[in-house]
Amino acid sequence: MIAHLRHLTRGLPVQRGQLKQLQQLRSVSYLIDQPEYSFLKDLGLERDNPGVFSGHWQGRGKSITSYDPGSGQAIATVRQGNVQELQQCIGLGVEAYKQWRQVPAPVRGEIVRQIGDELRKYKEPLGKLVSLEVGKIYSEGQGEVQEFIDICDYAVGLSRIYAGQLINSERAEHTILEAWRPLGLVGVISAYNFPNAVFGWNAAIALATGNSVLWKGAPSTPLVSVATTRIVAEVLRRNNLPAVVGLCQGGTDVGATLVADKRVNLLSFTGSCQTGRDVGVEVQRRFGKVILELGGNNALIVDASANMKMALDAALFGCIGTTGQRCTTTRRIIVHEQLHDSFVDALTKKYAQLLPRIGHQLEAQTLVGPVHTQQNVDNYKATIEEAKLLGGTVAFGGSVLSRPGYYVEPTIITGLPHDASVVHRETFAPIVYVLKARNVDEAIAWNNEVEQGLSSAIFTENIGQAFKWIGAQGSDCGIVNINTTTNGAEIGGAFGGEKATGGGRESGSDAWKQYCKRATITVNHSGELACAQGVVFSVE
Ligand code: UN1
Repeated sequence: MIAHLRHLTRGLPVQRGQLKQLQQLRSVSYLIDQPEYSFLKDLGLERDNPGVFSGHWQGRGKSITSYDPGSGQAIATVRQGNVQELQQCIGLGVEAYKQWRQVPAPVRGEIVRQIGDELRKYKEPLGKLVSLEVGKIYSEGQGEVQEFIDICDYAVGLSRIYAGQLINSERAEHTILEAWRPLGLVGVISAYNFPNAVFGWNAAIALATGNSVLWKGAPSTPLVSVATTRIVAEVLRRNNLPAVVGLCQGGTDVGATLVADKRVNLLSFTGSCQTGRDVGVEVQRRFGKVILELGGNNALIVDASANMKMALDAALFGCIGTTGQRCTTTRRIIVHEQLHDSFVDALTKKYAQLLPRIGHQLEAQTLVGPVHTQQNVDNYKATIEEAKLLGGTVAFGGSVLSRPGYYVEPTIITGLPHDASVVHRETFAPIVYVLKARNVDEAIAWNNEVEQGLSSAIFTENIGQAFKWIGAQGSDCGIVNINTTTNGAEIGGAFGGEKATGGGRESGSDAWKQYCKRATITVNHSGELACAQGVVFSVE
C-alpha cells in the first residue's frame, strides 16, 4: 500500500491530503488496520483479540502477535488463555455436554448444518485469512474452508443415519443390541498447516454424535482459531445453546493441561510424532481416548508402466503444494530405474517453471507461497546441508530467497541411499528425494521401511502391480493411492495413518465411531433367566 502510494505521488506535486495519508500509513504497523485487509474486520477481528471462548470471550494469558509469513508483517494480536482459564473452559464444556447429549441427533445435525451455512457465507474472507496466516496460496486457503463445509454436510447426513445394530443371540428370546453414545468433552489440538479444516473434521463429527468440543489451535495461527470460533459461536448464540464449542488459545502449559485433564474424554491431536507420542502416553495413563494424526514420510512410486505426464503433475502438486507443509506432502519419489533419469529431467523442468510463481500467498499468480516461520527456513537449510554431506545432489533449488518473508526454492535431491537419515526424516519444507529402484517390490519395501505410515501413491498401468500395492504385501500406510497424489484427500474417506503417524482416523467413513462409546445391550425377553454357553448355575 505504501509502495503503491509512493508510486502515485512520484513526480507529482504532493497534495497535503495525500501526504497526510502517506504519513498515517507509515505509522501503521498492523495489517488489520490497512484498507486492503478489511476482510479481517469482516470476520469480526480487531487489532487485539481475546483468544478464549466459553460462552463469552476473554483471555488473561500472554498476548501474542500473529505474523504474515509472506511479508513478515504483524497482522494483529491475540490474548491467549492461561491454565486457569483452560480449566474453566473444561468445566463449562462438560456442563454444555450434559445439555447437548439430550438433543436428538438429527437436531444436532441441524445445528451443524447451520455452521456449514455460516462458513459458506464467510468462505472468502476466512479462506483468505487461512492463506494470510499460514502462508498457503489463495485457492488452498479457500479449499481448506471448503473441507470444513464438506465435513459439515457429511455430519448432517451422519446425524440421521449413524446407528448401532441388532445381533442374534444364542439364547432363545434374547436380543443383543449395540448402541453408540457420545463420549463427553472432546479436546482438539490442531497444527498450523491446517488451522481450520482439521478442527472442522473433529468438531462436525463430535457435535453430530453428541459431544462438546474444546479447541486449542496452533499458537502461530490464533486468528484463524478466533475467526472460526466466532462463526460457530454465532450459530450457537442464535439457537440459544450453551458453548458446546469452546476455544482456549495458549502455549504448551495450556496444551499439557488439556492433555492431562481427566474430564477430557477424547483428545484429538495433530502435530509431530515426537509430541504425539508424549500426548498418547499421557492420555493413556489416565485411560482417556486419543486420536493421533502425526507426521508422514509419504512416497510416490513411479512404476515402469506409469503414465509419465500424470506422475509428473502429481509429483509437482504433491511435493510443492502448500509449500511442502502438508502431512501428506510427497517427500520421496521412488522411480523405476529405466525411467529415473528422464523423470528427474522432466521434473526439474517443471520445477523451473514454478520459480516465477513464487510469491506472496495472496497474489493471484502465486503457486508457491512462503513457508510458515523462520524455523521452517532453518530446517530447510539444515536438511539440504545434511543431504549434501551424505552424498546427495541438489538437482534443483536449494536456496533461501532473500526477500522479506520466508521464501525457499522448491528442491529436488537425487543420489541418496533410500535409507539415508534425511530421507527417513520428515522436514516440513518443499524438499523431495528422488530414489532409483529396480522394481516395484523394492519400491514397496522402501515405501514401508520408514517409521511413519500416513500416505502413499503408485503410478502404474499394470493391474497386477496396482493390486499388489493395495494388498496385504503392499503399502503399509493409511492412505494407499493409485494414479493420484499422496496429498489432497477428500473428506469422505477416513483420514490418518499407521505406525508413528499414530493410528488415528478422522473425517469420513466410520471415523465417527472414535467419538463414541459402544454399549452392548443384551435384552432378555423370555421371562426366564438363562446363561450363555449352556452354563447351568441355579439352585431350587
Ligand atoms: C494435514 O496435512 O495435516 O489430504 C492434513 C490432505 C488434506 C489434509 C491434510 N486434505 O492433504
